[in-house]
Amino acid sequence: MLFLRRCHSLTRFGPLNTQRYSTLRYQVAPAAASCAVRLRSSGSDDQRSYQHARSPGWTHGLAGLLAGTGAVLAYCLHQHKAEQIDTTKVESTEKAPLPVFSQAEVTKHRSLEDGVWVTYKDSVYDITEFVSMHPGGDKILLAAGGALEPFWALYAVHNQEHVLEILSEYKVGELSAEDQKKLQAVKSSDPYASDPERHPVLRINNLKPFNAEPPPEILSDSYITPSAFFFKRNHLPVPQVDPASYQLHVEGIPGGVLTLSLEDLKTQFPKHTVTATLQCAGNRRSEMNSVKQVKGLNWGIAAISNATWSGAKLRDVLLAAGYGPDVAQWAHHVQFEGLDKDVTGTTYGASIPLNKAVSEEGDVLLAYEMNGEELPADHGFPVRVVVPGTVGARNVKWLGRIIVSKDESSSHWQQNDYKGFSPGTDWDTVDFKSAPAIQELPVQSAVTTPADGAVIDRSAGEVTVKGYAWSGGGREVVRVDVSLDGGKTWQVAQLRANDKGQPPEPPRPPGRAWAWKLWELTAPLPPDAQELEIVCKAVDNSYNMQPDTVPPIWNLRGVLSNAWHRVKVTIKEDKEEE
Ligand code: MTE
Repeated sequence: MLFLRRCHSLTRFGPLNTQRYSTLRYQVAPAAASCAVRLRSSGSDDQRSYQHARSPGWTHGLAGLLAGTGAVLAYCLHQHKAEQIDTTKVESTEKAPLPVFSQAEVTKHRSLEDGVWVTYKDSVYDITEFVSMHPGGDKILLAAGGALEPFWALYAVHNQEHVLEILSEYKVGELSAEDQKKLQAVKSSDPYASDPERHPVLRINNLKPFNAEPPPEILSDSYITPSAFFFKRNHLPVPQVDPASYQLHVEGIPGGVLTLSLEDLKTQFPKHTVTATLQCAGNRRSEMNSVKQVKGLNWGIAAISNATWSGAKLRDVLLAAGYGPDVAQWAHHVQFEGLDKDVTGTTYGASIPLNKAVSEEGDVLLAYEMNGEELPADHGFPVRVVVPGTVGARNVKWLGRIIVSKDESSSHWQQNDYKGFSPGTDWDTVDFKSAPAIQELPVQSAVTTPADGAVIDRSAGEVTVKGYAWSGGGREVVRVDVSLDGGKTWQVAQLRANDKGQPPEPPRPPGRAWAWKLWELTAPLPPDAQELEIVCKAVDNSYNMQPDTVPPIWNLRGVLSNAWHRVKVTIKEDKEEE
């Protein structure tokens, strides 16, 4: 396979043949630029067949396409290798005339057994060997036998020059002129064209689907994050929902389906308001990446934000749908489906434990307002679930269906993503079924200002450090420790749970502290230091504390990154008087 031939770091033990060859895997390295793809010896003990490498656990492990994330990494790997192309070897292949195939011929190649062929514009590609390297796992097979365009229009992470470069290596022929004309007719439009406008201050991690975080210093400016600055995490295009015809279906409870309009939700149930922090499982993934490459969007410290949410309690809606002790006998989960769909019609989905959904104290909302206004399009208009204390992924936006069930959601994001693993688990060995879906998140804190690499004037005499702290499951942050010397000595920061000039939030009952605390410490500059390593760590009311370093909690998806946060700043000495 051309791609493999191009990788200088490959160890080859024979001809490159799909059937014979052992596991291809991503060899993780300290920096993205040094990523390599390695082919193991076909005779080694840990050899696993190519077929085996596509066992469900493995492929599911790679299934990040819908998350629109891992593709970037894989393509970066390819791009890096592309720079080392051995042109003398490739030339002869490129010059050979390529055959012309009909669409019917391409369509015959729709499986690993028959080969996986796709078309892009006027060319035909045999991507059979790429399937096992695809960061989105076997979702790539959805395109088998047909055109890539409709998929790439949706998963726009592919629309990059180096992705085309990789694809070109798998070219096996041309598509017949007649079939090309037919394809022109079905070219898809951009499914992201109607995505809402976003604030330019947001730092974009991925444009389509849209994923962005605010600059960290903005986060600690306000206890309630303005909606425009609230981090945004979309896996798919933002759906266009007409509030007048919107319907929410509540299913799974014997006695029938309860269907509610937006008006019903607003008028038939008491309105509750909860201040709750949402955090993405991948917040601070970049720190894991800097230890060893992981797969996923490279979030900084700001995939977390705090808002007030108003809506009906899920508990009240489930009771109205007929929930009662009889249902509690057999039901264990409440599943949610979004109205955002991929090309196959698959919707975003997740579930939470039934206990959390029906408990008075769980405070789970079907929210139609955020920060006192109707939900913005990016945050789930017209209705989203807000599951306080629970990982962002379960807070399903653009809610279309609620299903009471004995089972968890079968969605990709519940079963094969958003799970934690040992640092020793790699993509060859990961079994997503072996780990529970993340629900409550661990204790977290980060320094929002000063920024890493900032310069402080000695003449200032002191430094003010600010940040946020939060814990999952309603556990209240009770203390934040700050060190200016890399963790040798510590001082206790001041916590606040309000916006300056506003009254503090009323104390929350135990187990229902859903919102973060902002914190601040002003300390004199140590006289002899030229550099400060500022560190923070939070403690919650269960005395959970953050781990001191990343390596022991590193995991292949880069989730649950909550080690002590560290920033280095230098102190600029005053100029000597002349
Ligand atoms: N709900 C739907 N329908 N589609 C999504 O892509 N993303 C989830 C969750 N709910 C998502 C969703 C993830 S992973 C996170 S972290 C949060 O929404 C982000 O919510 P926000 O964009 O309002 O910050």
